[in-house]
Amino acid sequence: MAVRPVLRMGDPRLLAVAREVEAFDTPELHALINDMEDTMRALDGAGLAAPQIGVGLQVVIFGVAHNPRYPDAEEVPYTVLVNPQLEAVGEEMEEGWEGCLSVPGMRGLVSRYKRLRYRGVDQFGNGIDRTVGDFHARVVQHEVDHLMGILYPMRVRDMRNFGFTEELFPGEDIADD
Ligand code: NI
Repeated sequence: MAVRPVLRMGDPRLLAVAREVEAFDTPELHALINDMEDTMRALDGAGLAAPQIGVGLQVVIFGVAHNPRYPDAEEVPYTVLVNPQLEAVGEEMEEGWEGCLSVPGMRGLVSRYKRLRYRGVDQFGNGIDRTVGDFHARVVQHEVDHLMGILYPMRVRDMRNFGFTEELFPGEDIADD
């Protein structure tokens, strides 16, 4: 178990499409997920995708237990999601501010589907099938974007809504990534 360096925007590995995981409940997969969890918790992130630590596999983790970075956000159960598939539920979109451990110190306003069904498996190969909304849906869409080489600034429609956290939200106690 170890906290791994998080790649930052500009590193080409963040732009690659991740491969499907084919073997479950292996020492290698458990070690990867342990490192991801250590890294996410050390940096107080809401989620982390394997490509962010340089591993090009379709693995994301996320979870929010009243995170001070998102003081108004609902709680999201800690989840390991492998080989995810997303499906929008309805067409309603919602704008919200996002940050990313690969884009430290910045925030951007991004439109996401408000309701989402996601499917996949956990690290043991057990199926996951959930329909969620709001912040939970946003976090999943953000993390799964990483598996397709998409970083949230690519989805900011109006670049006036992208900038340094300290300048966008002066005086607010928001961690810098
Ligand atoms: Ni991110």
